[in-house]
Amino acid sequence: PEFVAGPAVRVAALDELSGEWAQQTFTYQGRPCTALHLPAATSGSLEAGGQHYAAYSRICTHLGCTVNLVRDTEVLAFSFNYRPPDGQPKLGCPCHFSVFDPLRAGEAVFGKARAPLPRVRLEQRGQALWATGIEAAPPPGS
Ligand code: FES
Repeated sequence: PEFVAGPAVRVAALDELSGEWAQQTFTYQGRPCTALHLPAATSGSLEAGGQHYAAYSRICTHLGCTVNLVRDTEVLAFSFNYRPPDGQPKLGCPCHFSVFDPLRAGEAVFGKARAPLPRVRLEQRGQALWATGIEAAPPPGS
């Protein structure tokens, strides 16, 4: 889907997201979202100061529960029954254990969800990250 432009909303100062996998949750156009400091670029991510950031809707594309960042790959292995091949954190849904990959543009990589998490467009303004648009949500269950 395309980004739908929306109001500019300040998400976080860059130094509040220092360190790989630092996270700031926020609300954008009524949708719970998360901004992540990634260890590498992905489609739709923002490079700022040589670092990579991406933001996603946290609304699971299976049936709409709220996904969380799961940093501990042992939790992914034992609670979700999913071992990330890259050993990196993922976004996981507590309802039916779908897993989404923030390093692959929010793609659904495990479980019942099929559609990726909608991406939020990030922009750098001064020393802060702002959200300025979001992809349309897929229909539930897609
Ligand atoms: Fe997220 Fe079902 S609502 S896996």
